[in-house]
Amino acid sequence: MEIIHLSAECYPVAKAGGLGDVVGALPKYQCKAGHIAKVVMPMYHKSFVWQHELVNEYESDFEMGSIRFHFRIMKEKFNALGFDLYLVDIPGLFDREGIYSYDDDDRRFLGFQIAFLEWVRQWQHRPDIVHCHDHHTALVPFLMQYAYRYQHLATIKTVLTVHNGLYQGWMSWESAALLPEYDQWKSGLVEFCNAVNPLASAIRCAHAVTTVSLSYLEELMDHAAGLEILFRSFHYKCYGILNGIDTEVWNPETDKYLSFHYNGKNVDEMKLKSKTEICRLFELDSNKPLFVFIGRAVAEKGADLLPTAISKALSNTKGACSFLVLGSGDKEVEAQLGSLKTYLEGLYNCYIGYSEELSHKMYAAADFLLMPSRVEPCGLNQMYALRYGTIPIVRSVGGLKDTIVDFGENGGFGLRFLHSSAEDIASACCRAAELYYDYRESFQLIRQRMMAIDHSWEKSCSQYIELYQSL
Ligand code: ADP
Ligand code: GLC
Repeated sequence: MEIIHLSAECYPVAKAGGLGDVVGALPKYQCKAGHIAKVVMPMYHKSFVWQHELVNEYESDFEMGSIRFHFRIMKEKFNALGFDLYLVDIPGLFDREGIYSYDDDDRRFLGFQIAFLEWVRQWQHRPDIVHCHDHHTALVPFLMQYAYRYQHLATIKTVLTVHNGLYQGWMSWESAALLPEYDQWKSGLVEFCNAVNPLASAIRCAHAVTTVSLSYLEELMDHAAGLEILFRSFHYKCYGILNGIDTEVWNPETDKYLSFHYNGKNVDEMKLKSKTEICRLFELDSNKPLFVFIGRAVAEKGADLLPTAISKALSNTKGACSFLVLGSGDKEVEAQLGSLKTYLEGLYNCYIGYSEELSHKMYAAADFLLMPSRVEPCGLNQMYALRYGTIPIVRSVGGLKDTIVDFGENGGFGLRFLHSSAEDIASACCRAAELYYDYRESFQLIRQRMMAIDHSWEKSCSQYIELYQSL
């Protein structure tokens, strides 16, 4: 089959979170399984672009509102990622370094989708599947069916993957005038509460909708930031397919960022070396269990609860733990996490920012990974942690519920708690500290058990292929 993935992120070209990891891996495994998978994404001004040879595949113009944009489709020449990568260069929209958070994001991603359709409309053949990821690409299924210029693409099957239903790409209803001319009788398909809602339009128009875990799909029926009704009405075409992890990138035996490589046999010794290295750097005590948080510093991830939870956990354990946080996001949460350092010197430290290298080092060095998410559609961190022998402590929600079994249960290997509250997080940390200090053998056994769990992409990859074939 020929599958085109459309996405705003793809690791290592541009990544802000798990979306990048997924789109950087799934197509590679689809190609390995004998399919033709391609990724089309915006050409941001990132180092990848200068470091790789790109060839001009196509160029043309399109109109958005009253403005004409010139665009080029640039193909990465040497298949560096294990699949064909196409970058859409649109001066005026993407000639900036950042991925998101510009005032004109709605226009930027609309322009990206129009350029893609302008390119595909003149292809001599049709791909089997256009697979759209999140709201930045979610107008494509509607446009392929109801915009006059692209209606001959309507027979191509479309799939939407909802990585995070909280972000829907809302635009004022006036922005509908920016869309390529479409059948006005169908305008109800892009509209939601008097606004243009790209995610809603794709839930209605895509041939299939997937979420990145089964539990998340169930949760969306009741909590989908207004779109519950759509997830219920279109349930018949919705599927939960759990993400996998790229075991080539996330492998403690070969990870390019690690100073100490390891496997199940030498995990205890090598993790201790990694912990000592990190603790020295962040002035923490490596004789204590190291708890880390890696992620976006936003309420969705429960990051705002960390300062109180960490203080409580430290007071309850009489300072017997070390905490390290890596994250960026909400400025207020960042400030709270930053100022905690002055109160908890030697016990807690943080790096406010984004660092791929530090994240890998932290997965390797830590004893426990904290994920107190309020919402977690899938979550990749806990799966990386499992592979790196770091026990995940997670709130029972979404994909965390589907991947982590509490060690109190038969065959369990992580810690789960129910509520997104500082109290629940703190008591889970105390339970973890007890496991670390008083039940050393169980602690080591759990590590072995976790590291043997297989979350590689093969299984999920074949679920996607089965879904495409069913369409
Ligand atoms: P989300 O996509 O919601 O942020 P995921 O768990 O799916 O959550 O994926 C997060 C990804 O982003 C992981 O690869 C994680 O290591 C990475 N990550 C998040 N924050 C940072 C950061 N500040 N520095 C480095 N990597 C980060
Ligand atoms: C989103 C979700 C996260 C998921 C990721 C990849 O960012 O918040 O839970 O793992 O997408 O699908």
